[in-house]
Amino acid sequence: MATDKRHIALIGFMASGKSTVGVRLARVLGRRFVDIDEEIASAHGPIEKIFTRQGESAFRRHESRAIAAALARKEPSVIATGGGAPTDARTRTLLAERSYRIFLSVSVERIERRLRRAKAPRPMLGENPTHNQILELYERRLPYYREAEFTLECNGLRERAICDALVAHVADPNEGTIRECAQ
Ligand code: S3P
Repeated sequence: MATDKRHIALIGFMASGKSTVGVRLARVLGRRFVDIDEEIASAHGPIEKIFTRQGESAFRRHESRAIAAALARKEPSVIATGGGAPTDARTRTLLAERSYRIFLSVSVERIERRLRRAKAPRPMLGENPTHNQILELYERRLPYYREAEFTLECNGLRERAICDALVAHVADPNEGTIRECAQ
């Protein structure tokens, strides 16, 4: 599996650490880092406004195009996708065909704690989502995340350990020091 020549797409639920881990991973691998939410915001304005003014389906179109543009670049990069990206069929196909998908798996309890601490609310969940709303969205998305080529169980791991595990995996996909989740 030639992970060294492919774009790496980090996928997973909101607040699972895709951007923070992605920045670090890209630096260690000497690759360009692309944050899809930032690409969308710089082309179309703040994400919350896109959701309120144009709705989710417009956001998914922008997201799909931003991901297609990132994947069209020749030099392999590290791409942090938004939590809902794999729910869109076009985006899913793009990611499956042109990237090596890594699912950062974080328990819903941890995600909930992080979301409650976050300053800006996530448009998909609104101001004060209930536990059941978060859980329901998480469970609905899990099958898409599980399509990833590799899943890293991140619970209890610090950002640095996550990055080290991913670097080891990219260097040797059979690397045994990391736990691959049961799919
Ligand atoms: C979304 C997640 C967000 C952002 C947008 C929609 C989602 O990204 O793309 O608010 O549908 O889960 P993060 O996963 O970085 O929070």
